[in-house]
Amino acid sequence: MQAAPRKPDIVVRKRADRSLARFPKTQTEEFINVKPSSKPINPCFSSGPCAKRPGWTLDALQGAAVGRSHRSKIGKAKLAEVIGQSKKLLAMSDDYILGVVPASDTGAVEMAMWSMLGERPVDVFAWESFGSGWSGDLKNQLKLKDLRVFKADYGRIPDLCQADWTHDVVFTWNGTTSGVRVPNGDWIAADRQGLAICDATSAVFAMDIPWNKLDVITWSWQKVLGGEAGHGMLALSPRAVKRLESFAPDRPLPKIFQMSKGGKLSAGIFQGETINTPSMLCVEDALDGLKWAGSIGGLSALIARSQANLKAIEDWVAQSNWAGFLAEDPSIRSSTSICLKITDPAYAALSADDQAKHAKSLVSLLDKENVAYDIGSYRDAPAGIRIWGGATVETADIESLLPWLDWAYGQVKAAF
Ligand SMILES: Cc1ncc(COP(=O)(O)O)c(C=O)c1O
Repeated sequence: MQAAPRKPDIVVRKRADRSLARFPKTQTEEFINVKPSSKPINPCFSSGPCAKRPGWTLDALQGAAVGRSHRSKIGKAKLAEVIGQSKKLLAMSDDYILGVVPASDTGAVEMAMWSMLGERPVDVFAWESFGSGWSGDLKNQLKLKDLRVFKADYGRIPDLCQADWTHDVVFTWNGTTSGVRVPNGDWIAADRQGLAICDATSAVFAMDIPWNKLDVITWSWQKVLGGEAGHGMLALSPRAVKRLESFAPDRPLPKIFQMSKGGKLSAGIFQGETINTPSMLCVEDALDGLKWAGSIGGLSALIARSQANLKAIEDWVAQSNWAGFLAEDPSIRSSTSICLKITDPAYAALSADDQAKHAKSLVSLLDKENVAYDIGSYRDAPAGIRIWGGATVETADIESLLPWLDWAYGQVKAAF
C-alpha cells in the first residue's frame, strides 16, 4: 500500500517545464492561466508530519515488534538501535547521550526546561510561534523570575549576540512557522557557563549542527526523516547531565519529565529504557528512515537534498513577479520549512482578511488539484505558503510544483 492518501492524476514523472518554473517577471497573466502539464508525483509538502521517504510503503514496517513488550529483549534492542543509528548518522560525540522520550519534540523540550531551569538566569530567543511558546511557558508556567526574552517578528531573528552565556539560553534552531533559522553556532560561547537548550526538530538531519555548542538538543521523528509522530528525541551534553545530577528544581515534576533519581541520572532512558510505552510500529518506521538515510549517503546527502530543494525555490522566487521569501536574508533562510509571502502590490493593497482569504484559496486550489497538500502558512504566521523542503521531498517534485504556484496565483488573482 502506498503512503500517499490520494494518487496524483498524472503519475508519469516529467521534469518540470523549466520555462514555466523560471517564470519571467514580464510574463503576461494570460500565460499564468495555462495549467501546467505535470504534477508532483508526491504532493505531500506538509511541515509535519512530513513526506515519507521516497519509495516508502507499509512493507517497511514488516519487521515491527508489534504485540511485544518494549522492555523485551527485541523491543529494547530496537529502541537502542534508533539511538545508536541516530548518533552515528549525526556524528554526535561519544560523551553525549540520546534518549527516546514521550510526547514528541514538545515533550523533549518541556522535560528539559522543567527539570533543568531555575538554577541561574535564563535568556530565551523567539521569532515565531514555537519559540514564542517556549518563552511563554518559561514566563507563565515555570514562572522564572530571572528571565530575559528576545523577540523578533516573523521573517526576522533577534540579535543573537545579546545572549549572556553565564545564563542558560533557550532557542529553536529552525523556526518552522517563519522559515527562519539561526545562521550557525558562532554566537554560542564555547566556554559558556550556562546551558544551550535547543529545539532543533526541523533542523536535525537537514542542517549542520555544531553539537559541541549545544547542551540539550531535541527533535521528533516525523520531521526530516518522515517518520511517524508521537516520540521525541532528547540529546544531552555532559554539562546537561551534570545539571540534572546537581540541581533539584523547586517545582513538582510529573513522571514523564523525570530524568534523574536521588541526584543520579536515570541512565536507562538513554539506552532504550523509555519512561513509558512507545509504539513499536513507530519505532520500526524510525529505523526505516534511518536506514534510508544511511543508504543514500548519510548526513551530507540529507543536507544536500534539502539545500537542493531550497535552491529550486530560490531560483523560482528570483524570477517571480508575485512571490518572495518571508526570510529575506538568505543567511537565516530555512531549507526545510520554506515560507513564502505574496509580494504582488495588488495583493498588498487588499485588507488583511482578504489577503488571508486569497492565500487560503490558493492553497486549497492546489490541494483540490492533488498538486500540493498542506502548504498553507502556519495558523499564527502571516498569510502565505509554506513548503517543506526536508530530505524526504524530491527536488523534482518541488520543480513540478512551482509552475502550479504561478497558475494558482493567476486563478486567485482573477478573483480580487
Ligand atoms: C520548531 C518546532 N518546535 C516544536 C514543534 C512541536 O513538535 P511536536 O509536535 O513534535 O511536539 C514543532 C512542530 O512543528 C516545531 O516545528
